[in-house]
Amino acid sequence: MHKFNDQVTDAEHDFIISKFNDLCEIVALEDYDQPAREELQGLFLHYTSEHFSREEAVMRAAGYPYQAQHATAHANMQDEFGRVLNAMPVGSPNLQADLVLLRQMFLHHILTYDEAYGEWLADGLRGP
Ligand SMILES: [Fe+2]
Ligand SMILES: [Fe+2]
Repeated sequence: MHKFNDQVTDAEHDFIISKFNDLCEIVALEDYDQPAREELQGLFLHYTSEHFSREEAVMRAAGYPYQAQHATAHANMQDEFGRVLNAMPVGSPNLQADLVLLRQMFLHHILTYDEAYGEWLADGLRGP
């Protein structure tokens, strides 16, 4: 559905969104399993970090002129994910709302930064 013009990247976006949803589901349970949440959270941060690195490598290989700015946006987002997820104590009433905000932040990045790369790539493929 999202257009990075790279199938693996587009599939990763959908996968990360589904992991956000899994996290939302687990913290919605009144008496959720804290080790399960921590495991899911650790995996989530691993997936996003891998995704960002891979995306940056794709951009570097393509000679994308805004790769450095894009990498900075990734680093800021990854910091924010870690900061919010690791700081939320068990049973925190704000956790669900914060997850929704983080998901929004990620979607916004896809629709702006990632799509800008997809458009740049498509322009180059179309030629002058
Ligand atoms: Fe992305
Ligand atoms: Fe990105």
